[in-house]
Amino acid sequence: MKEPITISITGAAGHIGYALLFRIASGSVFGADQPVNLRLIEIEPALPALHGVVMELDDCAFPLLREVVATADLDEGFAGANWALLVGSVPRKAGMERSDLLGINGRIFTGQGQAIAKNAAKNIRVLVVGNPCNTNALIAKNNAAGVPSDRFFAMTRLDENRAKSQLAFKAGVHASDVTNLCIWGNHSSTQYPDFTNAKINGKPATDVISDHDWLKGEFISTVQQRGAAIIKARGASSAASAANAAIDTVKSLIQPTADGDWFSVAVCSDGSYGIEKGLIASMPIRTKSDGSWEVVQGVPVDDFSREKIDASVAELIEERDAVKDLIPS
Ligand code: NAD
Ligand code: LMR
Repeated sequence: MKEPITISITGAAGHIGYALLFRIASGSVFGADQPVNLRLIEIEPALPALHGVVMELDDCAFPLLREVVATADLDEGFAGANWALLVGSVPRKAGMERSDLLGINGRIFTGQGQAIAKNAAKNIRVLVVGNPCNTNALIAKNNAAGVPSDRFFAMTRLDENRAKSQLAFKAGVHASDVTNLCIWGNHSSTQYPDFTNAKINGKPATDVISDHDWLKGEFISTVQQRGAAIIKARGASSAASAANAAIDTVKSLIQPTADGDWFSVAVCSDGSYGIEKGLIASMPIRTKSDGSWEVVQGVPVDDFSREKIDASVAELIEERDAVKDLIPS
């Protein structure tokens, strides 16, 4: 049996937390031979609810689950963490953009970044789910002195999964037949789901789907607005699909990517594709056989794509400028 790894999860008593913890504890994320410790972090008022969740974890008698800690103390919560899943934050309501949450949520990520730097394991990796996730990840990264920037990620996998399903419905195939789907930029209504490089059963999506007006119009706006559509329908933001996407992201970052394919996650830009260095922007990523990741280079960017990517990156720059006071110089 392997040594246990430690996963810290903020907002563990929330909707996404509830859909996430049991899958991690069951072994379906890190593997059937990988024991896990869970460090569950909540704000004080949510600790009673979190204790109820811990009782349920106990009641599952998961063979791989070792220590479970429930706490509102960040030092305790991130102690020895190999992975930090930063979910805890307020979701938007109908009529809001995700960036409207910056003022409410941004501040959470300064203290969490600092606590990660102080307490986490040397190999810590941080996935930010709480919105606006790109800029929250930027805040966490810039407050985590000494933690390399390539350890910070923000989640755009839900958008990728949504885009794959939309293309699959249109083409009359299964979502798993769609590959090479990159979400570029921000997890917001400016994100660009890149159909120009997507493939369906190995063929260009633009050959399989002849309705290019749909690809350039309704497809993009459906993916961009899907979160809002779910809030309108459910009266609450997506939770099960978001937890599922967080799991997909972690698995994609720990397992080598299939040859020729890529996945979407927002990373700290190294300037690739003209995206300003240091921004947390979504782009095509692959995981190598040694477990490290890289930006896939050479993905064609035509004029249509360039304009869309630039618009989303411009929004990231605006968000960064809006939180200047939370980023140490
Ligand atoms: P929720 O309100 O059900 O749960 C959030 C939890 O976070 C609550 O239990 C709350 O007590 C806790 N929390 C708040 N501040 C905290 C702090 N400082 N430290 C620790 N915990 C804290 O919300 P949810 O549906 O679970 O969504 C959580 C976040 O995820 C929201 O910001 C939402 O917009 C975002 N989200 C992102 C994506 C994505 O694709 N990136 C998808 C869905 C939801
Ligand atoms: C989503 O994409 O479903 C989440 O980011 C929640 C939201 O506010 O849209």
